[in-house]
Amino acid sequence: MCLKDGKNNTLRMKIGFVGLGKLGLPVALAIEDKGHTVLGYDIDPNVKKILEKKKIPYKEKGADVLLKKSKIKFTSLLSVAKNSDLIFVAIQTPHENKYEGITRIPKTRKDFNYRYLIKGLSELSKCIDLQKKKKDVIVISTVLPGTIKKYIKPIISKYINLTYNPFFIAMGTTIENFLQSEMILMGTDKKESRKKLTKFYKSINNSPIFKTNIENAELIKVVYNTFISTKISFINSVMETCQYLPNTNIDEISKALFLCKDRIISNKYLIGGMGDGGGCHPRDNIALSWLANKLNLSYNWYDNIMKQREFHTVWLAKEIIKNKKKKSDKIFILGKCFKPETNLIVGSPAILLKNILEEFGQKVVIWDPYVDGNESQFKTKFKLNKQPSLYFVGTKHNYFKKFKFAKNSIIIDPFRYLNLKKNVKYIPLGKSIS
Ligand SMILES: NC(=O)c1ccc[n+]([C@@H]2O[C@H](COP(=O)([O-])OP(=O)(O)OC[C@H]3O[C@@H](n4cnc5c(N)ncnc54)[C@H](O)[C@@H]3O)[C@@H](O)[C@H]2O)c1
Repeated sequence: MCLKDGKNNTLRMKIGFVGLGKLGLPVALAIEDKGHTVLGYDIDPNVKKILEKKKIPYKEKGADVLLKKSKIKFTSLLSVAKNSDLIFVAIQTPHENKYEGITRIPKTRKDFNYRYLIKGLSELSKCIDLQKKKKDVIVISTVLPGTIKKYIKPIISKYINLTYNPFFIAMGTTIENFLQSEMILMGTDKKESRKKLTKFYKSINNSPIFKTNIENAELIKVVYNTFISTKISFINSVMETCQYLPNTNIDEISKALFLCKDRIISNKYLIGGMGDGGGCHPRDNIALSWLANKLNLSYNWYDNIMKQREFHTVWLAKEIIKNKKKKSDKIFILGKCFKPETNLIVGSPAILLKNILEEFGQKVVIWDPYVDGNESQFKTKFKLNKQPSLYFVGTKHNYFKKFKFAKNSIIIDPFRYLNLKKNVKYIPLGKSIS
């Protein structure tokens, strides 16, 4: 097969695999089928037998066919380290059986077990150290956010350029999911690794590549799965609702939702900020939570949504209070509307925030240019022209981009859109610094 890199040149690389299990082996076969040479190492001797006997012991679509013609070389770890242009690491990060999800959720919760991954990477690291040459190592095992910084980086060689590049694949269809991935997630801080890996992926498919740092990539990998779980639990709650509501059918509901490609099956409403608002959503959810109780559903998902909205607003209130300079300081909320560029305040999460702050004994002033008007009157009344104050942006009005804040004011922005730099302390929420 003729492979092309981004510049239409034929590309043939030596790809190393450490860990040829249920993820590693099918992906290694798919990469080999694109014309690359694959070298693999696994501590389990059975893997060598699988490659020799050309029989895969688990069901994986398309793997048998590729394995029959495969020339993957099973070799030593040292040889993988020495002879590969890129080294993928697909070592297991298991959970105890009780966290698999086939029993009720245990009372305790636990991280994955990184013992095998740490051991495998530290052995690979020693082999790379011997070469004294920079190598690209690409971890594809699943880890929780923060793991690589905490457990992996401290134990690896200075010659390793590390990338976290987890795959969005489902067991059983690993090969086709890898070859037709909806996106390639590339977490690395090294420019040269991004370049090399991008070139490699251009030889595999034309999927969009999302380049970010390692911590973001770790989080994206797991929340991708959580989002799928969220969709499933939501629709199953609606399914229960249909079971008890006469003349309703869950498949009709799904079919209608599939058509909503603007607001529902789209990137809308997937940007962190204030809670949901308006004249329909909060009250619909509250009414549905009443119905769920009446129908005696197994779990009140609708109630759950409203609780999350409320707890999120309590969290915002606490972030504001945390940033006050003096206990007696007033808090100024800019924006009352639930929707930017309108004067609509029904079901407003900004007003909910004001109420919660007052519950906490805070002095709060809320002002919206499209509801209350007269900025100069507002500023004069509270001496805001000269006096540094604490602001929270409650509505993402473009108006606030031109709002003049007195020197040394503190501005908390849950939408991260004001991007203030000079003379004030600007706190964009949802962006942590290491
Ligand atoms: N299987 C999937 O479809 C899938 C999908 C997404 C993510 N993942 C993640 O990928 C990782 C691997 O999963 P898997 O299902 O392939 O696990 P697996 O147990 O099937 O395979 C892991 C392989 O690594 C080998 N190994 C362990 N220690 C080693 C070492 N020191 N040196 C060399 N080889 C070593 C094992 O012998 C085994 O063959 C996990 O973190 C998993 O969560 C798997």
